[in-house]
Amino acid sequence: MLESLELTVNGDRHALDAPVGRSLAEVLRDDLGLTGTKIACYEGHCGACTVLLDGVPALSCITLVHAVGGRGVTTIEGLREHPLVDAFVREDALQCGFCTPGQIVSASALLAANPRPTREEIGHAMAGNLCRCGAYRNIEAAIASVGGGR
Ligand code: FES
Ligand code: FES
Repeated sequence: MLESLELTVNGDRHALDAPVGRSLAEVLRDDLGLTGTKIACYEGHCGACTVLLDGVPALSCITLVHAVGGRGVTTIEGLREHPLVDAFVREDALQCGFCTPGQIVSASALLAANPRPTREEIGHAMAGNLCRCGAYRNIEAAIASVGGGR
């Protein structure tokens, strides 16, 4: 059954019809063409699909699109100008890159709440974002470099 909804993504408003039970990740990728958000586990375990809902990280693979309500969605496409993007390149914080959008989205929320996190705070905040390539050290370094390098 289709139900209509309105979704604000990266500041743009969209009117959509989506089946009840459809995930936010599917709508972002398949209906809106915002394929920067990745889907890996589809079960809420890996963090690849992380987006922000009113600035708070959320796993879009297990978020029903109709449950988003009036909250603004920010995807990696909305963070193009964020200094984390350059920092990840500079610190070589990726290998295959599949986890990178989710890593940057989560890190952006951390830095918004805590602009100068310690390494321990970074590790804690990023614990839900897995990297199968094991680039954790450089990911932490990239985040720390934006947050003042502590
Ligand atoms: S794809 Fe959503 S948590 Fe893994
Ligand atoms: S860079 Fe490959 S999964 Fe993280």
